[in-house]
Amino acid sequence: MKIYAAKDYNDLSRKAANIISAQVILKPNAVLGLATGSTPVGAYKQMIEWHKKGDLDFSRVRSVNLDEYKGLSGDHDQSYRYFMNHNLFDHVNIDKANTNVPNGLAEDPAAECRRYDQVIRDMGGIDLQLLGIGGNGHIGFNEPCDVFEKGTHVVTLTEETRKSNARFFSSIDEVPTHALTMGIQGIMSAGKILLLASGEAKAKAVYDSCFGPVVPGVPASVLQLHRDVIVIADEAALTLVRENEKWGGQIYDN
Ligand code: GLP
Repeated sequence: MKIYAAKDYNDLSRKAANIISAQVILKPNAVLGLATGSTPVGAYKQMIEWHKKGDLDFSRVRSVNLDEYKGLSGDHDQSYRYFMNHNLFDHVNIDKANTNVPNGLAEDPAAECRRYDQVIRDMGGIDLQLLGIGGNGHIGFNEPCDVFEKGTHVVTLTEETRKSNARFFSSIDEVPTHALTMGIQGIMSAGKILLLASGEAKAKAVYDSCFGPVVPGVPASVLQLHRDVIVIADEAALTLVRENEKWGGQIYDN
């Protein structure tokens, strides 16, 4: 795991966009594992800009998103399909037929989860998985629990996650109670993982995930077992790592 300090959110976004773009340049038909939440929005904006300048071609890129709220249709403005269209896909030359987000309205959610894992296998796995992190250490919607759930599954969202995501809805009652999320095996089988963290609210999750014990109570801690993980975090998110002399020196500064 390599941890890079970003000067601020813009710097974090540019660094992340550079790494994702490098993947697309090296393998034009790359499978990108994509994430939602506010953290990756700046990286998506930067990639849109580079695409518009003619420097980045998504025509052969394939994508698979981490998760979707159960019960929301793709055109609901808080669904993750809508988020991806709005924040990236509508502005670049990706073929939407090559983009995948779990179907939040599937009549048989368990079958939809199995289908989703098959989609990932059929694409030959994920080349680069982008991740944000929840304040409780969740990745995708893999919430803290007793076991690492392997495959795509339906999850009950914690109150903490629903409260935190309520800022995007008009009230907490509108935040769905369940979601479909790629499992830990899907995430861990990606060739490369890029985790982004911004803001002090993520400082404990970053510290525990990078240096704490590998336990399902902190889902992102499993990333310590992956051989190619890049963490890009701003100073606020690195506060606890910096404070701990033992680990503070592990950061690549710039
Ligand atoms: C949601 C998503 C996660 C994301 C997290 C953090 O719960 N399912 O994939 O990492 O939010 O969001 P933010 O980046 O807005 O803090």
